[in-house]
Amino acid sequence: MTVCEFRAGLEGVPVTQSSISFVDGQKGILEYRGIPIQELAEKSTFLETAYLLIWKELPTKEELEAFKNEIRYHRRLKYRIRDMMKCFPESGHPMDALQACAAALGLFYSRRALDDPTYIREAVVRLLAKIPTMVAAFQLMRKGNDPVQPRDDLNYAANFLYMLNEKEPDPLAAKIFEVCLVIHAEHTINASTFSAMVTASTLTDPYAVIASAVGTLAGPLHGGASEEVIEMLEEIGSVENVRPYLDDRLQRKARIMGFGHRVYKVKDPRAIILQELAEQLFEKFGHDKYYDIATELERAVEEKLGGKGIYPNVDFYSGLVYRKLGIPTDLFTPVFAISRVAGWLAHWKEQLNENRIFRPTQIYTGLHSVPYVSIDDR
Ligand code: CMC
Repeated sequence: MTVCEFRAGLEGVPVTQSSISFVDGQKGILEYRGIPIQELAEKSTFLETAYLLIWKELPTKEELEAFKNEIRYHRRLKYRIRDMMKCFPESGHPMDALQACAAALGLFYSRRALDDPTYIREAVVRLLAKIPTMVAAFQLMRKGNDPVQPRDDLNYAANFLYMLNEKEPDPLAAKIFEVCLVIHAEHTINASTFSAMVTASTLTDPYAVIASAVGTLAGPLHGGASEEVIEMLEEIGSVENVRPYLDDRLQRKARIMGFGHRVYKVKDPRAIILQELAEQLFEKFGHDKYYDIATELERAVEEKLGGKGIYPNVDFYSGLVYRKLGIPTDLFTPVFAISRVAGWLAHWKEQLNENRIFRPTQIYTGLHSVPYVSIDDR
């Protein structure tokens, strides 16, 4: 076996062979199962994209209809899950609530053989169906309201906005949210996907796999960045303050949230799509002054850091879109999770096909044969 050099953050180290998605970070290309993200954003729906990621091919009309019906049937939450959520503190972060609820599903659905396609399908359907309901239910419960039941006549994206805002969404808002779900669904071996794969490799249950991925997505260097972008734009406050703010951050060697990516050295293709969606929303529902701050910041960062390949990532414009859709700031990452569960499930399934438990190694830098000192002599 060849011994590899240590690479912090596993940069450039392949950890699997996968046919789920592809990124070219120099050319700004993202494909799901070979289909360019722009094409899926324009023509597909979230459930069709999820099917493509998980079962490798676009579904036929009949397959898609059957899948949608199964999802509709499983959207409701067991009352014990709702009761559990009622005990969560309102001040708790919704990502923590989601992680706990995703793990709790494992209590209700007993483990079966991981090579049983029916069990795989049931787990996929339950997770895709119930996670949006959990996110919306926690939001209403922390405001002291009863959760809203899902509506069978609404599609996946519209139903989530309905459960969250307690009113049927505008068709353009629902369409734009659907595109957001499509473009966030998968992104090769990022931290949360790797987390899902490591957990999957132990052959634990799928609810534990998704719960561990949710926990990983929550961090500010990963999915949590979209929340911090909005906080940053609010702190900047005006277009005039963009450059002084940026200079101050760079002087202190602080990160500019929503910029930079391990793989992309150009503007993330998803940021390009999200920026277009934001503009469509502003045209219909009114301008957001923070968009002007964001575009000025993009210009200023490009001038200063473009040479290092630091450009807007997916999290830079997503918050501006979500805000216009009535999604509160601390739900941005749970909304990311609603979509990314499709990618995590695809990787779970792929991992099971040729599984070997992840067990990397380390370069030990500690001491050896150190004598034990009794407590009185320390
Ligand atoms: N602002 C300022 N400088 C940056 C930034 C940034 N956002 N990102 C990278 N750099 C600089 C960094 O200081 C370093 O400079 P130098 O070589 O002079 O020391 C160089 O670029 C390389 O940075 P790195 O930390 O080695 O890059 P990484 O691949 O380990 O980190 C990243 C990638 C996304 C964690 C990082 O770019 C970052 O912290 N960005 C801000 C947080 C963010 O927006 N996260 C969302 C990521 S995309 C969606 C997702 O994964 O969920």
